[in-house]
Amino acid sequence: MRRKFVAGNWKMNTLRQTAVELAGAIAKAIPAAVPKVQVAVCPPCPYLEAVKGAIAGSGVELGAQNAYHEQPGAFTGEIAVAMLGDVGCAWVILGHSERRAILGETDELICRKVAASLRGGLQVILCVGETLAQRQANQTEAVLDSQMAGSLAGIDAAAMDKIVIAYEPVWAIGTGVTATTEQAQSAHAHLRRWLASRYNPQIAAATRILYGGSVKPDNAGSLLGQPDVDGALVGGASLKAADFLAIVRAGESVASV
Ligand code: PGA
Repeated sequence: MRRKFVAGNWKMNTLRQTAVELAGAIAKAIPAAVPKVQVAVCPPCPYLEAVKGAIAGSGVELGAQNAYHEQPGAFTGEIAVAMLGDVGCAWVILGHSERRAILGETDELICRKVAASLRGGLQVILCVGETLAQRQANQTEAVLDSQMAGSLAGIDAAAMDKIVIAYEPVWAIGTGVTATTEQAQSAHAHLRRWLASRYNPQIAAATRILYGGSVKPDNAGSLLGQPDVDGALVGGASLKAADFLAIVRAGESVASV
């Protein structure tokens, strides 16, 4: 059974105090033994350690929003996987559409980051998703296929239990426009079919696929209630503890495990 998973992507938001307050408020509501929904927060890098302190003793896990694929060395401005592990990260988000679009990250680079993160003991939230123009041109499935193939090139089946996929249609991110439950379910089912053909049916059945893109308390229940939607990667609504927790609760109410 796939355990539901709700992760907060704080993006480039918060300062130290707001980060600690937000993390503390979430941690207070998520006890160490969370039966149904796994929860992670992904703050900006400078606050990882402070947030780690604020969530200590709770069931909330820590994630980073990016990592570099090289070993520690002369890479000014970059952050190594080992450093993220060292400050307590269990997760790293890779391939987010903002990094693809604004920072020019390619599937090939993302794949190197995935491999390095796995080698370094991190679990990966791998983001894929089409733009509005691609959807309108009926290219959604082709785009997802090529992002998956490129970002997971050389990643073998044994590593897939450390990877969670996040389907994030670019047109739904930060726009307030959410994919309909049918659009989300259809893309998730397609991704699961891709996993079955690239790996095997067991991997396809076991891999969690999160939805991301304007997930809010009022739409989380119907999205997370879809058979192939295993949780949410939440941006804007993860910056308010009450909203984020309401999304976690919505996940709990539809979770079957
Ligand atoms: P959003 O962002 O919830 O603000 O749309 C989601 C994401 O980019 O991960």
